[in-house]
Amino acid sequence: MSQILTIALAKGRILAETLPLLKRVGIEPVDDLLTSRKLIFPTNHANINLVLIRSSDVPTYVQYGAADIGIAGKDVLLEHGGEGLYERVDLKISGCKLMTAGFPNKPLPSGRLKVATKYPRIARQYFLDQGRQVELIKLYGSMELAPIVGLSDLIVDLVDTGNTLNANGLAPLEHIMDITSRLIVNRASQKMKNQAIKEFVSRIQKAVME
Ligand code: PRP
Repeated sequence: MSQILTIALAKGRILAETLPLLKRVGIEPVDDLLTSRKLIFPTNHANINLVLIRSSDVPTYVQYGAADIGIAGKDVLLEHGGEGLYERVDLKISGCKLMTAGFPNKPLPSGRLKVATKYPRIARQYFLDQGRQVELIKLYGSMELAPIVGLSDLIVDLVDTGNTLNANGLAPLEHIMDITSRLIVNRASQKMKNQAIKEFVSRIQKAVME
């Protein structure tokens, strides 16, 4: 009997680039993921199912084996910590940058800076490496609002086109790291479903290199 694979995909902007990649390796969901309200999707392969979840939940599903494979941004993986999973392929899609941002040409206050972010783990490490003392304020979205309403001096957030920062009178300041989407695999699945995973990963690797 062929091994069933569950692949966790992130909702949002990654999805639009993930679906064409899956299509290139011959995997197509039976419904339109971009418009459907469903969360579990069979595909044209009887042994492959997709689940559609929040990007920050993808590593958790894979860590606990609720999904064998996942596709998530490097930002989300670093913030999660990577327990229980292997990062197998840099998919080279959904490229963007993780940056600090704030008001351009406005001197920062002296003393401990307040930094709003949904990436406290990455941000803590970044400022620690620089020997800078900061107070981290965890948010779940719309970080750009924080400096405007005086909640923080800076934000740490993803920057793609820069349009969101610009629209809110902010500017990118320091580049923390480049981000792309990664293919991750549950550690136990990699052993237990070795054949199916090996085949899938090698097809994806080939598609990425084409
Ligand atoms: C991300 C990020 C910024 C924006 C950057 O948010 O948090 O707000 O995109 O993109 P830009 O530089 O092209 O304007 P996203 O839209 O993914 O939603 P989120 O607030 O749920 O993270």
